[in-house]
Amino acid sequence: MVVLPGSSPEAIRRAAEVIERGGLVAFPTETVYGLGADAFQPRAVAAIFEIKGRPRFDPLIVHVADPRDVVRLWLEVDPRARRLMERFWPGPLTLVLPKRPEVPEIVTAGLRTVAVRMPAHPVALELIREAQTPIAAPSANPFGRLSPTTAEHVLEGLGDRVEVILDGGRCPVGVESTVLALDGEARLLRPGGVPVEEIEEVIGPVRRALRPGRPQAPGGLPRHYSPRTPLRFLERGVKVPQGLKVGLLAFRGPQQGPFEVVEVLSPSGDLREAAARLFEALHRLDSAGLDLILAEAVPEEGLGFAIMDRLRRAASKTA
Ligand code: TXA
Ligand code: MG
Repeated sequence: MVVLPGSSPEAIRRAAEVIERGGLVAFPTETVYGLGADAFQPRAVAAIFEIKGRPRFDPLIVHVADPRDVVRLWLEVDPRARRLMERFWPGPLTLVLPKRPEVPEIVTAGLRTVAVRMPAHPVALELIREAQTPIAAPSANPFGRLSPTTAEHVLEGLGDRVEVILDGGRCPVGVESTVLALDGEARLLRPGGVPVEEIEEVIGPVRRALRPGRPQAPGGLPRHYSPRTPLRFLERGVKVPQGLKVGLLAFRGPQQGPFEVVEVLSPSGDLREAAARLFEALHRLDSAGLDLILAEAVPEEGLGFAIMDRLRRAASKTA
């Protein structure tokens, strides 16, 4: 792990190389420090969850260095989004719109939308430009801890779990970005650096999904993707029901059985690879016209906790 000065072009180049080869970089934005990976490398994105120690997958914000780069992420630029981008970007406003199919589902936790913002910080912008890819990043703190607003905070929290920390001093805004959903009626998902009143001056009324006075949206607010097909765990000795179309979500390798479809998460048993593939595999199984999905349990270590959290939710929904 190294802490490098964000003001040095050489340091930015080094950090960009780490991103390009699938590593993680902590970097300053105007709001808080982010823990970033190439948004188009699913395994690198999976590593973010591993390093933060998140017990579940949350959808991440993708950071761009130019408003034109949103065409790689969103299906369409809504006219409301265009006006808000003109007014508030670069800045602490994150917009949520339907995603292009190329955006890996580990970035969006399986949702059909992706959150994007252009940060107003020279170090963040230089890093994204140099890496030539949008950077997916949550705040650079371990799960359950305060968001970091200095490089020292990142160092204390994540220490040697991150390859490079770019030091850009104190984050000038200090609170996270405002998150606004624009897939349909405009909805405030998280209050933040841009006051909702200023957003309403540009696009008219915004629905507050939150009660006034509540500081921060809990991670539970955005709805998470869950398969509509019933899902159960494949336990030892359990017979596959006869006469039903059953799909298998396997961890390491296919099991014997009358399965219509089999998705293998990681032949080598690598939990990071399994996490990176999880949502895509669930979507494929869910659209295969099955009556039931049987899921193999994965080891509960590292990213295995988050994978099992997702599978248990899917299983409990249909219990
Ligand atoms: O200021 C910020 O936004 C910082 C800096 C690093 O950019 N990032 C940040 O990321 O706060 P994070 O992961 O701590 O919070 C992201 C928020 C979460 O509330 C998440 O649920 C929401 O954005 N979000 C992300 N993608 C979403 C989506 N597709 N639909 C709904 N909510 C989404
Ligand atoms: Mg956070």
